[in-house]
Amino acid sequence: MSIIKQILDSYATGSSLSLSVHQNIFGELPVLVIKHPTCSAAVSLQGAHLLFWQPSTETTPVIWLSQKANFKKEMAIRGGVPICWPWFGKLGDPMHGFARLVEWQLDSCKEDNNGVDLTLSLTNNQQTERFFTKPFQAWLTIHVGQTCEVTLSCQGDFEATSALHTYFGINNIDNVTVKGLGDLYQDRLPVENKPAILGQLTFNQEVDRVYTNADEAITIFDGKRTIKLTNINASDVVTWNPWIDKVKAMADFADQEYQSMVCVETCRINKPLKLSTTQKSVYGFKIEVI
Ligand code: BG6
Repeated sequence: MSIIKQILDSYATGSSLSLSVHQNIFGELPVLVIKHPTCSAAVSLQGAHLLFWQPSTETTPVIWLSQKANFKKEMAIRGGVPICWPWFGKLGDPMHGFARLVEWQLDSCKEDNNGVDLTLSLTNNQQTERFFTKPFQAWLTIHVGQTCEVTLSCQGDFEATSALHTYFGINNIDNVTVKGLGDLYQDRLPVENKPAILGQLTFNQEVDRVYTNADEAITIFDGKRTIKLTNINASDVVTWNPWIDKVKAMADFADQEYQSMVCVETCRINKPLKLSTTQKSVYGFKIEVI
């Protein structure tokens, strides 16, 4: 059975937070399962991690989750929207920061005809202080309905790099074109891998790039549907597909799954978030099928 179906099935025995949101434990983790007339979705409290999202007009998830994702304490979850914060990649240790490894608190859960709105928060505590000693507060808002909107806000007295590391569900990587990326990028791989057309990205091998001058609106066309990603206050967009060999080496990816996902990540890497203790630094995205 698909992992998404298993998570959705856990709705039946979960405790009710509102008409369309039930909380249950999946693997080792508390998960909010959403079955709303506009969409189905789920959020793990560990990482404030949106696990998948499928508008009711779609037959497959727009935000993708690996069939082999781990639901274990302090382990990153493969798929969905991992929150990489307060550093991206190997700018610190652990990789992509600690926000995705620790449990966030659910501050509010509201719903209406348009969908479900959640706010989660994280404040420095004993668990985070093992990774990072500075005080901070972070908030994540998630709206899921016919659209999906996520914002990350934070306060503290340091600079943070970050990514809202979205995994998009696609029909077939061979047919994918990502547009709106601009033509300036830093390659994270030591390979010659030029785009066929400047500003457009297609995939025939591993891709791992930081685009530094992307448009606000990016489209991902997979031969069947077009997903529009609108970034708000981001400075970079990372594109990633691990391709055949890397996926085989990763225990939380099924061998063929590189064909059905692509990461297009809303980031603050080259212009880090300059946190203050009095004002929130905010960035985010909106996703819709057009
Ligand atoms: C991307 C990076 O953002 O995340 C890649 O650019 C990395 O280099 C990928 O491999 C996945 O990272 P992780 O830690 O979730 O396996």
